[in-house]
Amino acid sequence: METSRNELLIRGGTVVLESGELRADVLIRGGKVAGLLRDGKSAAPKARVIDAAGAYVMPGGFDAHTHVGIQFGEFKTRDDFGITTRAAAYGGTTSMLEFAFPEPGEDPGEAVERRIAEASPVAAIDFGFHCAIAQHADDDALAGIERAARMGAPSVKVFTAYRGIMMLELGDIHAVMREAARSRSLVMVHAETESIVERAASELRQQGRGEARDHPLARPASAELDAARSVLGLAQETGAAVYLVHVTLAEVAAEIRRARAEGVSAYGETCPHYLFLDESVYSRPHPERMVCSPPMRPASEAKALWRSLGTDLTGVHSDHCCFDSSQKAVYASDSTRVPPGLPGVETRMPLMISAALSGRLRLQDVVRLCSSEPARLFGVVNKGSLLPGMDADVILVDPKRRGVIADLHMGTDFSPFQGMEVRGHIDTVISNGDVLVVGGDWVGDQPHGRYLSRRRLAK
Ligand code: URP
Ligand code: ZN
Ligand code: ZN
Repeated sequence: METSRNELLIRGGTVVLESGELRADVLIRGGKVAGLLRDGKSAAPKARVIDAAGAYVMPGGFDAHTHVGIQFGEFKTRDDFGITTRAAAYGGTTSMLEFAFPEPGEDPGEAVERRIAEASPVAAIDFGFHCAIAQHADDDALAGIERAARMGAPSVKVFTAYRGIMMLELGDIHAVMREAARSRSLVMVHAETESIVERAASELRQQGRGEARDHPLARPASAELDAARSVLGLAQETGAAVYLVHVTLAEVAAEIRRARAEGVSAYGETCPHYLFLDESVYSRPHPERMVCSPPMRPASEAKALWRSLGTDLTGVHSDHCCFDSSQKAVYASDSTRVPPGLPGVETRMPLMISAALSGRLRLQDVVRLCSSEPARLFGVVNKGSLLPGMDADVILVDPKRRGVIADLHMGTDFSPFQGMEVRGHIDTVISNGDVLVVGGDWVGDQPHGRYLSRRRLAK
C-alpha cells in the first residue's frame, strides 16, 4: 500500500508528557500531532511508520537562551543560524530563541526584523527572538520594546554587567521594566553587579593574578546575589515580570521564590554547565575555554542547584555562545578579556536526558524544564508537548544506548562536556512533522524553520 506523505505514525514507544508517561502511538498529520492512539495502525493505514519500540517519545527541546553570531567586544562567534539550528536539531532541540541586539541607529523592533530576515532562509528548526537593550535605554530604545512585542518578541534582555559593551545602569533597567510592564513583555536579566566584579578583578591584578584559571574569583557569587536582589526589588516596584538568566546559586533561586511569594512575577533558569560542571574546570588544561559569566561555582553549589530545579527555577537552557578555542586563547592571561560563553545548544538535551536515565530526575521533569515550561512562559502555545493539536516536534530516545559527548556540530571546536559519558541516545528528530535526523544522521532536506511569533504575557 502507498504511504501518505502527510501522515507519520510513531509506533510502539513510551510517550513522555510533563504529567507522566503512557504507551501510545503518535499520529502526525499535516505537521501536527493528530492523536495519541492505542492502535494507531488501524486509524492510519497509509501513514509512514517509524518504529519506536523500546524508545521514549518526547517533545523536542525548547531552548530559550542562545546566542548566534554574537559580537562581544572585538570577538564575534563564527556560527550562523544555519549552523546553530542544525546543531540544535542534532541534539534534540526543535525550537530556539535568540537575542536581537540593536546595531547603531536601530531600535529593538528593527533589530528583531533584521534578525528574522537573517535566520529565515537558513534555519533548520523554528526560531524566535528576544529584543535587547544595551548600554543606553533612550526613548527610542524604550519605544522599541512595544514594537518588538507587536512583532512577536515580547521579551527584552538587559545586562547589569559588561560595562561599555552591554551593561545598563540600574536606573535604565528601572525604565525598561516600567515600559515592559506596559507592553506585557518579560524582562530577562543577566544579573551580576559590575562594580563588584571590577573590584574583584582589580584586586586579583594587584596580586599578580587574574588569569583564566582565576576566573571564579574575578566574578564572585556576591556579585550575582547582589544584582539578583536589586532587579527583583525593581520588578516588585514596577510590576514588571522578571526572568533571571543563567542562575548559578541556590541562594539566588531562593530569592526568586521569595519574590514570587510576595506577588512578583519572577522566574529563573539555569544551564547545564552549572549543573554538570563546577569550578574545578578552571584547574584543568585550557581554563580559558571555560570562561563564561557567571563562572562555574564550587561543586557544593552545583549540587544545591539541582534541588532548585522545577521549584524555584523553571527552565534549563543552554546560553549557547560559541567562541572557538583560538578566540578564547588570545587573552588567556587576563580572564576579564576572554570572550565569555560556552557552546551548548547541542548538548543540553542529551545531558538532561542522561541525568534522568541515571535517576537524578524523571524524564517528565526533563520535558517540563526543557520543553513545556519554556514554551508556556515565552508564549509559544503550540510547542512543548505531544498532546493532540500541538506542533509535531518529536524526539525518539533509545534509553539503552550509552555513549560519550563527541562529534558535535556546533560552530566551534570544543565542548565543555567533551568526552562526558551519557546514557540514552537521541536517535530521531522530527520538526513540524518533517524528519530531520535518523540514527544520528541528518536526513532533512531544505531548511524549513519558521519564525515563532510569540504571545505577550497574560494580564
Ligand atoms: O558567558 C556568557 N554567558 N556569555 C554569553 C552572554 C551572556 O552573558 O549570556
Ligand atoms: Zn549573560
Ligand atoms: Zn546568554
